[in-house]
Amino acid sequence: MATVLESHSSSETTTSPVYRSAQPVVSFAEAESLAGQFGSPLLVASRTVLLRNYEAMRSSLPGVELFYAAKANPADAILRPLCEAGSSVDVCSYGEMQAALAAGFTPEMMIHTHPCKTVQNLTCCYAAGVRWFVYDNAGEIPKLAEHARDASLLLRLAVSSSSSLINLSAKFGAFEADAVPLMLAARDAGLTVRGMSFHVGSQCRSPEDFHNALCQARRIWDRAAKAGIALEVLDVGGGFPAPYLDSVLTLDVYCRSLARALEETFGDIPVRVIAEPGRGLVAETMTLVTRVLGKSERGGTRWYIIDDGLYGSFSGQVFDHVEYPLMASAAAERELFPCVVAGPTCDSSDVVTREQPLPDLEIGELLLVPTMGAYTCASASNFNGLDLARIIGVE
Ligand SMILES: Cc1ncc(COP(=O)(O)O)c(C=O)c1O
Repeated sequence: MATVLESHSSSETTTSPVYRSAQPVVSFAEAESLAGQFGSPLLVASRTVLLRNYEAMRSSLPGVELFYAAKANPADAILRPLCEAGSSVDVCSYGEMQAALAAGFTPEMMIHTHPCKTVQNLTCCYAAGVRWFVYDNAGEIPKLAEHARDASLLLRLAVSSSSSLINLSAKFGAFEADAVPLMLAARDAGLTVRGMSFHVGSQCRSPEDFHNALCQARRIWDRAAKAGIALEVLDVGGGFPAPYLDSVLTLDVYCRSLARALEETFGDIPVRVIAEPGRGLVAETMTLVTRVLGKSERGGTRWYIIDDGLYGSFSGQVFDHVEYPLMASAAAERELFPCVVAGPTCDSSDVVTREQPLPDLEIGELLLVPTMGAYTCASASNFNGLDLARIIGVE
């Protein structure tokens, strides 16, 4: 059993009502004890921080149903507490659906959001009882008509956002002009389109970007109504940001802004609104505990090799375009030096940072890396035969 730990609230969050910054969920002393017990690298998931974020979103988005996007982190230490707290779940594959089932979610609590599925992905999830699916292209319609005729469908729209780190409309989403024709094509094939979804892009720093997407969705909603398609569901996707090297708005402030935009754009009609938060909900809930396993001086620069890297928990640096803040013990009282921190594989591109000055670290010393709960372990590999970071849940 993991030690029961106190949650660590951000000093900035306690002094600023508007922004939140990256904070570890364990102290160095607690990390030392956990690493002694479970080894390193270790991803420590805080149930307290997870439930705090879930509650912040739930209370500041009244009437919006939360479907946690399991792709951000399908670990049981994340899925199970969210299920117990009353969340629903967004899955995009049979594997994610199984992880959600194992954590206690039922198929009725799931939406399958992959807009372009293999037949196997579709039929396996359908056979297990999932009935809500997303599509964004005509090629998906015959698959759905053959294998999931009684499903409820959402059409995914492409939307633009100026403040998002990752554009999730670059690959998926129907263009505005194609939206109603795609709904009519699905209806002609005997399918039922019940709503629309969009994703403003991941790590969307400005909640105002939701406003533009909502205006576009409303235009299409009204055109669909004129074409005889009565929609009921609006899925506003994810995009809620997390603090990494930079602070971001608190979840309350961010979500209240979205709630206002929803009221302005859809407040005059009955609509069931759902959201699929991933990163904003779970990134802060995990802290990586990693150990310095080697150090050297190369061409006048200090190099540290740590026991996790780009092929492991830092894979988000490659796929998710995020740089994570590294924290050394008592850094405020130690002199800082420019350095390179590299991962444990034999690949020389496995470099975690060249930009973050650190104290003179000892071999064996621990570093804490907060905000490691989204798109980290989910995309990690065993390259070089190395173990993935172990995940433990703490209170
Ligand atoms: C369909 C869908 N919903 C939700 C999410 C979660 O997004 P975020 O982590 O930005 O909240 C994603 C991320 O890729 C997605 O593709």
